[in-house]
Amino acid sequence: MAEQKQIYKCELCGNVVEVLHGADGNLVCCGAEMVLFEEKSADEGKEKHVPVIETTAEGIKVKVGSNPHPMEEKHYIEWIEVIDGDTSCRTYLKPGQTPEAIFKGCPANVTAREYCNVHGLWKS
Ligand SMILES: [Fe+2]
Repeated sequence: MAEQKQIYKCELCGNVVEVLHGADGNLVCCGAEMVLFEEKSADEGKEKHVPVIETTAEGIKVKVGSNPHPMEEKHYIEWIEVIDGDTSCRTYLKPGQTPEAIFKGCPANVTAREYCNVHGLWKS
């Protein structure tokens, strides 16, 4: 049973998908069931992944994380998203960019999620 906003990965080919409309079936890719990402919210170790939400004059700024996360070719933050009830906004990032994004017109009490290509899905 898939639910809206869940993120799944194919461990064989690396496809990552988001569920826009949940239904009873299992998601399958490359002949195998896709794996659901748990939304992690507690940092462990030296790399920090939990999104940090700040209110700025330009809008809501989301940084990853409390120490800036690496943005290297093999290990980087692929996207940052804010969710406000039924509305979500996402910014996609590339290696070499700063691991942060600004979202205009969002209320201060959003949920933020980010996806690290090595360490998975995180939220705050
Ligand atoms: Fe990471």
